[in-house]
Amino acid sequence: MNAVTVRVPAKINLALSVGAPRKDGFHELATLFCAVSLYDSVTIEHCAGGPAVVVKGPHAAGVPVDGRNLAVRAACLLAADTHHDPAVRLTLHKGIPVAGGMAGGSADAAGALVAAAALWGEQLEPSRLSALAAQLGSDVPFPLLGGMAVGESRGERLTPVRSGGPFWWVVATVPGGLSTPAVFGRHDSLQDEQTVAPSRPRLPEGLLAAVETGDAAALAAVLCNDLQSAACSLRPDLRDVLAYGRGVGALASLLSGSGPTCLFLAEGSAHAAELSALINASPHVAETHVVRGPVPGAHVIAPEDAARVDLDNDAGSLAY
Ligand code: C5P
Repeated sequence: MNAVTVRVPAKINLALSVGAPRKDGFHELATLFCAVSLYDSVTIEHCAGGPAVVVKGPHAAGVPVDGRNLAVRAACLLAADTHHDPAVRLTLHKGIPVAGGMAGGSADAAGALVAAAALWGEQLEPSRLSALAAQLGSDVPFPLLGGMAVGESRGERLTPVRSGGPFWWVVATVPGGLSTPAVFGRHDSLQDEQTVAPSRPRLPEGLLAAVETGDAAALAAVLCNDLQSAACSLRPDLRDVLAYGRGVGALASLLSGSGPTCLFLAEGSAHAAELSALINASPHVAETHVVRGPVPGAHVIAPEDAARVDLDNDAGSLAY
């Protein structure tokens, strides 16, 4: 095989409950991941002198193009594990916002694992691929799986969940990013100030039932993100964006992961398109996308579709 292209979705967290920091510095989590129809693609091909990486697409700015790139690290990890030469070039097409709380870097790493395994003709058990993914980052195993899944431990321990969806969302990006460790750090100091012992992380009651029945209004009532206060205290403009979306009719608004991307739940696809245009008018918002979830995880596609990062939703994306 000469080249392989894999399309891999962004994730959102429909609930994110954060426990106390562990001895290894990570926090114990209970989260519900949902893969949504905003995609990166990863193309891998043989390249003497590799590994090398090229980054393209609407969100290419700021992505490292050396050994710090998580997709390069993923290809090297798989090469070492399966005894291949990592003489490859990776071309990433970025449709997922960078440092936005949608696990774009993790998606690229998951995509690189799947693409490299296909290029080298390795048929790995899903559990082995997932264990390699967990070495690369807490959020890397989920995009391999896609759909919806409960995440525990530091987020890498996954249990798939059935969904009666799809649910429709508006994703709103804002200028600039947020550092995940900085948001977790602020969360810890806010907890310390409140002098409440952090409880064991748990998903809100009614969440899995709302998801299973595909009931967007019931889901709106139980969405939660423990990192939202911390992110908003680092970026007060996010409060305005979240309130703006509710003001123009979103069923609920929520920070995506550690932010700063904001999510707005819609009643359906037409409502999401309407909301997208309205939220795009907020002075703090850079761009909006209409997405649906759950969608499948990382999968091989035809190379000519590599740049079609919004494959399902071209008509629903707005940018200025
Ligand atoms: O696992 P990953 O490299 O994506 O995590 C990035 C950072 O996010 C960690 O270094 C840590 O500061 C924070 N984190 C955490 N608890 C988790 C997941 C991530 O504190 N469960």
